[in-house]
Amino acid sequence: MSFFALIPAAGSGSRLPGEQAKQYAMLAGRPMLWHAIRAVCVAPVETVFVVLAPDDRTFAARDWSAFGGKLEPLYCGGETRRDSVYNGLVAAMAAVDADDWMLVHDAARPCLPRADLERLLSECSGDRIGGILALPAADTVKRAAKDEAGTQRVAASEDRSQLWLAQTPQMFRAGLLAQALRQAKMPVTDESGAIEQMGLKPRLVAGSRENLKVTYAQDLAIAEAILRSRP
Ligand code: CTP
Ligand code: MG
Repeated sequence: MSFFALIPAAGSGSRLPGEQAKQYAMLAGRPMLWHAIRAVCVAPVETVFVVLAPDDRTFAARDWSAFGGKLEPLYCGGETRRDSVYNGLVAAMAAVDADDWMLVHDAARPCLPRADLERLLSECSGDRIGGILALPAADTVKRAAKDEAGTQRVAASEDRSQLWLAQTPQMFRAGLLAQALRQAKMPVTDESGAIEQMGLKPRLVAGSRENLKVTYAQDLAIAEAILRSRP
């Protein structure tokens, strides 16, 4: 049984305006994707599959030499994140066994701390299903609904004691994950969502706020500060 990683990096970053796609935005002197790759390489992964848009011209023009022969770019990104992960997984299965662990990590989470990844591995490697990094919701959570004038108003307060915010990496057996993503009926925005639709309950592993997802321009400065604070 081996470990592999897959990084979907075929999005356009529509919420982060800029000259280049979000995954190539520069942070602490390197593309965001570079930091995400480096973070998963803390795990004993054999290969990091990077799923790119079929028309991606930027990846080939950047320097990935720090990762030696570990990277495998796959130009098979799809319409949605789920499509990109599924297409990448199908392509990767040529080199991966169904029982191998696949760690799926967003290019948009460049600050994944080493300790978080190590906790995920130690808590999930012996698990029957696998699991995800997540954070218990800290803020009070409101459900919104628009009134007649179109103004957003609070419709209800949710009980946050059972709510967690899902992060990546999410780790599952490669074969199970491919089956789950293929069969998913309802839209899914993470791997766990597809596994849940099979009636399985992935393990929740406490992550940290440092592992933020860079979505908006204001997140760039936070990510940059976190990366620069590290040795
Ligand atoms: N992603 C992907 N294929 C898609 C959509 C997203 O591989 N069709 C990847 C992104 O590149 C990113 C991760 O999935 O690494 C998480 O997606 P998100 O943070 O939403 O990035 P984008 O979809 O690029 O951004 P936005 O939603 O703002 O357009
Ligand atoms: Mg998106």
